[in-house]
Formats: sequence, C-alpha cells, structure tokens
Amino acid sequence: MRIPLQLSGKKEFDAVGFGLNAVDHLIVVAEYPAFDTKVRFTDYQKSAGGQTASAMVALQRLGLKTAYAGRFGSDEAGRFGHRSLETESVNLDFAEAIEGADNQIAFIIIDAPSGERTIIWDRDEKLSYAAEEAPIELAPKGRVLHIDAHDPPACAAMARAARKAGAIVTAGIDNIYEGLPELLPLVDVLITSAEFPHRLTGICDERASLVELKARYGCAIVGATLGARGALIYCDGEFMESPAFEVPGSCRDTTGAGDAFHAGFIYGMLCGEDLETCMRLGNAVAALKCRSLGGRAALPTLDELKDFLSEPPAVAGG
Ligand SMILES: Nc1ncnc2c1ncn2[C@@H]1O[C@H](COP(=O)(O)OP(=O)(O)O)[C@@H](O)[C@H]1O
Ligand SMILES: [Mg+2]
Repeated sequence: MRIPLQLSGKKEFDAVGFGLNAVDHLIVVAEYPAFDTKVRFTDYQKSAGGQTASAMVALQRLGLKTAYAGRFGSDEAGRFGHRSLETESVNLDFAEAIEGADNQIAFIIIDAPSGERTIIWDRDEKLSYAAEEAPIELAPKGRVLHIDAHDPPACAAMARAARKAGAIVTAGIDNIYEGLPELLPLVDVLITSAEFPHRLTGICDERASLVELKARYGCAIVGATLGARGALIYCDGEFMESPAFEVPGSCRDTTGAGDAFHAGFIYGMLCGEDLETCMRLGNAVAALKCRSLGGRAALPTLDELKDFLSEPPAVAGG
C-alpha cells in the first residue's frame, strides 16, 4: 500500500526531533526480582537514551541528517546526554541546557532471559516546555517532525509549524499526557506502544482501538508496535501486520526498541517506500537494536541494515 502522505522536497534536515532525552542506568538481572527481596545484578551500564533523542541517533546512523530539540539538565548527566548526541553528529542548535535543572534519568531493570525492560524514571519539571517556548523556527527545517508527545501544547505548536511548511508529523507515544486530544489531530503518523490505544480509548480489542483512534483524531496512519509480535497498522481502511525479526544472537535488551522502530519506519517513508516496507524496516532496525544493552549501542548503520535484510529473514517465533 502506498503511504497516503505527500513528502516535501529537500530541506536542511531529513528529520527534526522534539522531545525527550535521558540518561539511563541499566542493570541486568537473571530473573525479575520479587517484592521485598535482594538480587545481584549481572551487568550494569550507563548510557544515553530518551525516546526522541534516540530516534534521531537511529536515523543519523542510517545516514540521514537530523536535528534534536529538547532540554538537558545543567548537571553531569545533562552534559553526558548532550555529548552523546554531538558524537553522533545530531544537530543541537535548538537544544538547551536549563540552569539548575537535573537531567532526566531512568533506572532500567532488564530481565536477562527475555531482554524485557522495566523502566523507573523521573523528569525535572524545570525541563518542561510551555507552548510559547517551543522552538518553532526549527520545525519547518525537516521533511519529518518526530515527537514523543511530552509537553503536548508545545508539541502542537511544533506540529502546526511543521505542517505549514509541508513536513510530515510522526509521533511515538507510550503514555497519556494532558493535552493529547488537541495534539493528536496534528499528527500524520501515530504509532504507539501496544497498550496505549486501549488506555486512551478504553477499547480492549487491538484493531477496534486503532479504528477508534483514527475516527477520533483522523491521523493518516495509526498503529502500534507489539514487541516480539512486530507491528500492526491501520491505514486507508485496511489493517497491515508486520512480524518482528528474530534478534541476531539473542534479545539482550528491548530498551528503546520502539524508538528504533520509528526510525526504521521514518527512514522508509523518506525513501518513498510503501507501507509494508516501512514496517519491515521498522522491525529490522528494532531487532538489531535489541542485540545489546541500552537504547542506542546496537542501532545499525545502513550497511548493517542492508546486510541483515538481504539474509533470508528469520521470523520471531517462526
Ligand atoms: N523480543 C523481541 N524480538 C524481536 N523484536 C522485538 C522484540 N521486542 C521488540 N521488538 C521490536 O521492537 C519493536 C518495538 O517494541 P515494543 O516492545 O513494541 O516497543 P516499546 O516497548 O519500546 O514501546 C517491535 O515492533 C519489534 O519490531
Ligand atoms: Mg517493549
């Protein structure tokens, strides 16, 4: 199926991201701990993450030009996060460090057998954007604006400015924030975590909840990533499923898998691929990401992605 969206011509950036960055403290445990117990961890790593920041890194690794706008704390974690994006050559002209604010951090427990993560996080209120603080001069500079929908009124200001300039607005959302009903009609591609459509609509059935999201907000593409099951999208009155790939080696950590999926999908869109191919690229980038610990370490280069896809694909569970 063709993607029912008009791509703009060349712009300064392929993709502009507005949203979160974080510093993650990841620990791996042999088994997810029971309440009121002591367990030894088998691995520890500090790595940079955050939904939108990691999605921009993923796109940059694939050879695209990206910019990230978001707020860092003025602490060591903030400097660490900022450096991590500089190293990847993500443009940071519109990123800010907020004096006296702590950077967003997360403690992430990874269950070794499955690689599934549990995230415990906090974000200093000082990092929030009011609507009028959104860096709207950046929004028109990308062919795609990607958001994670934190600070919805600021995201809405960005989305309006992006659309006015012919950019496509994509969103990866995993939580309900105040102001979403005003933001979502400005989103063209809404791909959420598995539970989000149910939580927002109250509808348990996966497909029916996506139909309801489309009816309420009118996004051209609505969908959800479904972990090891891959992804499900509803577009032009049709459902499209795309299976996950088996993670090469084994699934070490799913932290940031959703962000990697968005990057693969956006990459496909920017290359003018059809919907099936975009979903396949999303699943492939996400599977490769899951090869190692942290949201970014194993994000593939374009060559790695091509090699992976040219091998006969092994379907997870198949
Ligand atoms: N265990 C897994 N094996 C293979 N691919 C996976 C696995 N978990 C996640 N993925 C890939 O990552 C994508 C996003 O994962 P998901 O768990 O839905 O997102 P998140 O938890 O980050 O919101 C999936 O659509 C799939 O392509
Ligand atoms: Mg997951």
